[in-house]
Amino acid sequence: MSLELRDIHKHFGPVRANDGISITVETGTLHGLLGENGAGKSTLMKVLSGFHSADSGEIILDGKTIKLASPVDAIAAGIGMLHQDPLVFLPFSVIDNFVLGSPGERRLDRAAATRELNELSERYGFNLDPETPARLLTVGERQQLEILRLLWLGARVLILDEPTTGISADQRAKLFVTLKALAKEGMSVIFVSHKLEEVADLCERVTVMTRGKVVGEAELPVPPEQLVEMMFGQAIEIRDRDQVSLGSSHLALDSIRTATGLLSEEPISLEVQAGEVIGIAGMEGSGQDTFLRICCGMRAPKEGRVAVGGQDMTGKHYRDYLAADVKYLPAGRLEEGLIEGLTITEHFVLAGEDRSFFVDWGAARKRAVEQVEHYTIKGTEASTAESLSGGNQQRVLLAMLPAELTVLLMEHPTRGLDIESADWVWEQLLARREQGTSILFASADLDELLRYSDRILVFFSGRVIGELDASATNVDEIGLLIGGRRSGTEGVAS
Ligand SMILES: Nc1ncnc2c1ncn2[C@@H]1O[C@H](COP(=O)(O)OP(=O)(O)OP(=O)(O)O)[C@@H](O)[C@H]1O
Ligand SMILES: [Mg+2]
Repeated sequence: MSLELRDIHKHFGPVRANDGISITVETGTLHGLLGENGAGKSTLMKVLSGFHSADSGEIILDGKTIKLASPVDAIAAGIGMLHQDPLVFLPFSVIDNFVLGSPGERRLDRAAATRELNELSERYGFNLDPETPARLLTVGERQQLEILRLLWLGARVLILDEPTTGISADQRAKLFVTLKALAKEGMSVIFVSHKLEEVADLCERVTVMTRGKVVGEAELPVPPEQLVEMMFGQAIEIRDRDQVSLGSSHLALDSIRTATGLLSEEPISLEVQAGEVIGIAGMEGSGQDTFLRICCGMRAPKEGRVAVGGQDMTGKHYRDYLAADVKYLPAGRLEEGLIEGLTITEHFVLAGEDRSFFVDWGAARKRAVEQVEHYTIKGTEASTAESLSGGNQQRVLLAMLPAELTVLLMEHPTRGLDIESADWVWEQLLARREQGTSILFASADLDELLRYSDRILVFFSGRVIGELDASATNVDEIGLLIGGRRSGTEGVAS
């Protein structure tokens, strides 16, 4: 199934997200689409999968121009897309999600659908229980579900929009094996990313986009510097951080433990000082999120004590933690951090300290305009949260942080960001740190953990299996711990 996009244009107001894009994807190949945040990758893929209609341009499939008025048209033509945030209906079970949106008769035969789901699941080495509620799935498993659903619906062109953000290294390896197998079977796979290594590992061809245009194409492999130059026009240099002397205790956890589930087995104690950066490693769902939620008062431990700045906070409400300048930035930017439909100005008003009943919208807009400029957010004060690209959503979240911060807790601070934006985010975080803010961040990116942490806590199966001095460890040691092996011993921790 050969696929050609010819001269695609798509604008949003003044933003030319796609400005005359032409790409050809050969049948049975893994085609990478690389580009900085806001380059227009998701927009192009949404055009190709029927979510957006292009202003102009053609989509040619097997020599015929096709019109896609909706995702249903696209999937009927064999084009399926896995979104940046997998569109899974959380309250429903795996099998209900699987059959949702499928043609009438198939939807009704639940038993047959369950059999087919199990078959597909086995074929690709996934482990999805049909009756599990979707909200219990990790991001990686939601993706697996979505891929199987698209295959079941007959996709022959599979689009994956940044599928590796938010999944574990293991899940990524499994995904890549699956994608390579699918390409062998004749599937055309379009893999959207801004991670050079991943595109280099997986793809046979790559198209590079910048600011709505194609700026380069290459058969892989090519030297990574060449791709970086295509993306940014120059090589990016990441600076080393300055040494910061640590101050008084900002956060102290004493033997905390939850009643059931993760973190219920072994108590955790940790003391974090002013200006300290603690990296949190671990397979997704190893207890990191529970841990971070306890640190910010969103979840109460069953046992143990929590103190912020020397003050006992045990049993206090999330709002009391906020008042103590403890702030948490979640990973699901659109689910938990930002509110769909609200503009940047409205977000700043909501996040602001001003609690008076009347909002001075004129002043609020002016402040928002300044922030948009200061944080170089690609958008305007009137842009809605969902209209921003991932990198720009993260910028808004950072811009919303209060001036005073004792402890900042983050999940995947640079997930989904290109090198330039990731570097920018850390510049902001390190500036905070110099002012004494303690930072705890969970990340799946081992290089990021090593580069920015003072100490690294590794979670495995609901407990801290290792605490490492970041300057004295390496990727291999962390990797082993993440997999449950304590250093110096052979066996896997039970
Ligand atoms: N629905 C929308 N309404 C308004 N503007 C939009 C909309 N969707 C995208 N844009 C704008 O179009 C541009 C391209 O965005 P797009 O999401 O396609 O980028 P991207 O390459 O996928 O970036 P990222 O790597 O951050 O996901 C951005 O400036 C974005 O703000
Ligand atoms: Mg995108």
